[in-house]
Amino acid sequence: MSAGTDIARNRDLWTVVNSQFTDEDADRAWAAKEITWGLFGVPERDLGVLGDVAGLDVLELGCGTAYLSGLLARQGARPVGVDLTPAQLATAGRCQQRFGLVFPLLEANAEDVPLPDTSFDLVVSEYGASVWCDPERWVAEAARLLRPGGRLVFLTNSVLATLCVPEQEGFAQERLARPQRGLHRVQWPGGGTEFHPSHGDWVRVLRANGFVVDALHELYAPADAATHAYYDIATAQWARQWPVEDLWTAHITPGG
Ligand SMILES: C[S@@+](CC[C@H](N)C(=O)[O-])C[C@H]1O[C@@H](n2cnc3c(N)ncnc32)[C@H](O)[C@@H]1O
Repeated sequence: MSAGTDIARNRDLWTVVNSQFTDEDADRAWAAKEITWGLFGVPERDLGVLGDVAGLDVLELGCGTAYLSGLLARQGARPVGVDLTPAQLATAGRCQQRFGLVFPLLEANAEDVPLPDTSFDLVVSEYGASVWCDPERWVAEAARLLRPGGRLVFLTNSVLATLCVPEQEGFAQERLARPQRGLHRVQWPGGGTEFHPSHGDWVRVLRANGFVVDALHELYAPADAATHAYYDIATAQWARQWPVEDLWTAHITPGG
């Protein structure tokens, strides 16, 4: 299937998800008192992957309703949100007005961002480009857009969770549902196309684009976390036992 078809399918999927869940949920997400990561809300204060963002130019690739950018703006960052889906950006724009935090939102493919080289200090992606874009393309874009020494922080499904989700989608099981060999581009029956490189492939792509890997945080559900009401990726019980998400941090070497 062509990249253009993947993009159209993912835009259609996220238009539907916006009408079913993310538009309704956005006010709650924007109102959050602190940044948390992932389906089970692991607090940023326990991980410290973002550091002090005040005064930084931040690019969010696949920003969706842009609540992460909104929370970063509240901490003094200057975010720009990029997303493919007009409905998601419309929700982001509504929340910007409601919360008085207005920053640029750009409708674009995160694999080909119409912004100049070396214009950002930090690129973030929370289940955005990190899942929905070809890593060879979006990581190269992140490298191009970052200033020397700039940082990349992205969250995606863990490799293990992806291996354990049944063929027809649904919660991860306690058995492997697909081989890891060849796991890269995953086409779900529900419509979306996702990219799930192995850890080794992530390291290869990051290094090939001039990044040094700083950390891979494997996220588990906290003891008191509940299963997410909308996203049926893994139950809290599963995610207390196995890592459900991978949170990567890297920086670009000054020579790029
Ligand atoms: C999980 S959502 C957004 C994540 C965001 N943190 C949130 O929850 O609002 C994934 C987003 O990726 C966007 N997306 C998918 N493919 C994309 C692409 N090629 N370029 C930019 N955004 C893309 C979708 O439109 C969707 O809004």
